[in-house]
Amino acid sequence: MSNSDSRRLSVSRVDVSQGREAEFHAIATQFAALIARKEYGRAVMVADEAEPLRFYSVNHWNGVASAELCHGDPEVQALIARLYQIARVTHVVNGVRRPEMMQLLLEDRRARVEADRRTGFDRRQKNVGSPTGVERRVGRDRRLGPRRLRDRPGEIDLIGAARRAREHADAAFSRFRVGAALETADGEVITGCNIENATYGLTMCAERVAMFKALSEGHRAFVRIAIVADTEEPTPPCGACRQILWEFGGNLQIELANLTQTKGVHRLKDLLPLPFDARLL
Ligand code: THU
Repeated sequence: MSNSDSRRLSVSRVDVSQGREAEFHAIATQFAALIARKEYGRAVMVADEAEPLRFYSVNHWNGVASAELCHGDPEVQALIARLYQIARVTHVVNGVRRPEMMQLLLEDRRARVEADRRTGFDRRQKNVGSPTGVERRVGRDRRLGPRRLRDRPGEIDLIGAARRAREHADAAFSRFRVGAALETADGEVITGCNIENATYGLTMCAERVAMFKALSEGHRAFVRIAIVADTEEPTPPCGACRQILWEFGGNLQIELANLTQTKGVHRLKDLLPLPFDARLL
């Protein structure tokens, strides 16, 4: 047994396909027994109380060498291959010893965000002037000041973050400006806006900008995304964005809003039935 400094923790999010729960539990039990018997470490499967088909696979390796041996073990590989047939697996922590990560997954993640936490990443540094014409918002929901993330304790103002992100949209061709805000499992908010260009076809939607920004910063687990446009009808994510959100975010909550009102709350599974993803490769 190695000393505690050489131990490693891996956490993966496991979204089990409907109807395959029994098979999943059998695999998880065999996996835990195998890891213990071969003294690679200890495997724990934690159920997500909010999502019946979501689990977190938490593996405490006895050391770096044990983790590597385990990954190379054909018996383990055979079990993992079976798991991939019935579940979508997203790595959240890869062997880095971050015990606080497990706490983060087990506790209410949002409760960890301080009452007046502000988003650092899109806090504006310079005065960009007052909005004019159609961009000028009226009414009580105007929030051009400091980046307030929460309306009430325990709740992140994700739609507010998406509205602010929309202010940076570059939609010179369609004039259709969209903002998005993605909430990570540990309560961070990553925003995006649509960016168009002269070839039109290279346009990137707000949702994908947010997701790619988040992934590029190392985030791997997400809970919700808010999408905002200045229209009476809600603006749901386009097909391409649904695919990317599904593959990297799973069954996210999708909150649609305009500049003054919420226009609908959906689950991605309902917007993308019968999805294609790595389980089918
Ligand atoms: N757009 C988004 O950014 N998100 C959506 O959900 C729908 C469409 C952008 C793409 C393009 O810049 C403009 O809106 C018009 O399609």
